[in-house]
Amino acid sequence: MLGYGFSHAGGPEVIDAIDLATPAPGPQEIQIKSQAIGLNNRDRIARQMGGSGLTVPGYDVAGIVSAVGDQVTQFALGDRVVARTTSAYAEIVTAVADMSVLLPESITPENGVALITPGVTGYRMVELGHIHDGDTVIVKGASGGVGSAAIQLAVARGASVIGIAASRHEVDVNQLGVQHFVAYDRGNPVKELAKTADVVINAAMDGIGGDDDVAMAKDNGLIVSVSHHEPLLNRGIRFIHTRPLGGSEVGQALKVLINLMSQGKLTVKVGYVLPFTREGFVKGHQLLDEPHEGRIVIQVTP
Ligand SMILES: NC(=O)c1ccc[n+]([C@@H]2O[C@H](COP(=O)([O-])OP(=O)(O)OC[C@H]3O[C@@H](n4cnc5c(N)ncnc54)[C@H](OP(=O)(O)O)[C@@H]3O)[C@@H](O)[C@H]2O)c1
Repeated sequence: MLGYGFSHAGGPEVIDAIDLATPAPGPQEIQIKSQAIGLNNRDRIARQMGGSGLTVPGYDVAGIVSAVGDQVTQFALGDRVVARTTSAYAEIVTAVADMSVLLPESITPENGVALITPGVTGYRMVELGHIHDGDTVIVKGASGGVGSAAIQLAVARGASVIGIAASRHEVDVNQLGVQHFVAYDRGNPVKELAKTADVVINAAMDGIGGDDDVAMAKDNGLIVSVSHHEPLLNRGIRFIHTRPLGGSEVGQALKVLINLMSQGKLTVKVGYVLPFTREGFVKGHQLLDEPHEGRIVIQVTP
């Protein structure tokens, strides 16, 4: 079975084809024949850091169920699914059934897979923020995968959302339902948005600008950030770092997300669909290494 990975740290060129044993599902797992694989920043970080020995990266897969574990009752052979797993850069993968959900016919594997990690993370951030009707929410990284999911989920909860991104993304971000767009490359957003937000969601790359998040939060407001670094807090403002969800929480979040997408209430921008070849993965990682527009997806079978 064909997979892709690396045996040492480096640039995109360290990725190579690997002949892998076909994985058998454990009792609570399903085996999936991959149709589409989603690329994430975490894959880039794994590649840059290297692993101990051969590493097959990847977390997000969409495909067809090709085998089910003894204890799995919710899936059958031939089901279309999306799943969050590990070692997803492969023709055949296994995933915990609780971290997998059915994919309706109306959603392509490419769109479904593109939603997984950014959608689950955006969902988690909105949950951690306890965002509800009437809240004013600032989303930084509004044009990114996590940020654009968080905007749509916060809007669906009745929040008034302000998006911050580069000016070239103004049209795209406005289409997500924000009340107001602020371009960080046209001036300092803090000047316009000081003490404005009940909740600041920082989904910008590496959660940069924590001090700005504090400045934009109201007294006793909340910052939910992808950054590990807590900024210097004041005025009763609290900070939460969002960690990746695991286990059945992933499945529960994915169910909500896929349901919203099937109703046309949640979109994800797929920027690049690349082939399941070494060139496809190398190109995908080159894109991950630089600013890019939309999610990067590897198409395994058209
Ligand atoms: N902890 C977790 O569970 C978890 C899970 C998934 C992702 N993450 C992390 O979350 C971050 C976002 O991930 P993603 O997949 O959404 O990445 P992405 O799609 O590449 O989006 C990142 C966004 O950051 C924005 N950005 C860059 N510089 C900025 C600045 N100075 N001010 C405001 N925005 C800026 C970019 O927007 P512009 O082009 O508009 O500048 C870009 O759209 C990454 O650091 C990722 O590692 C964490």
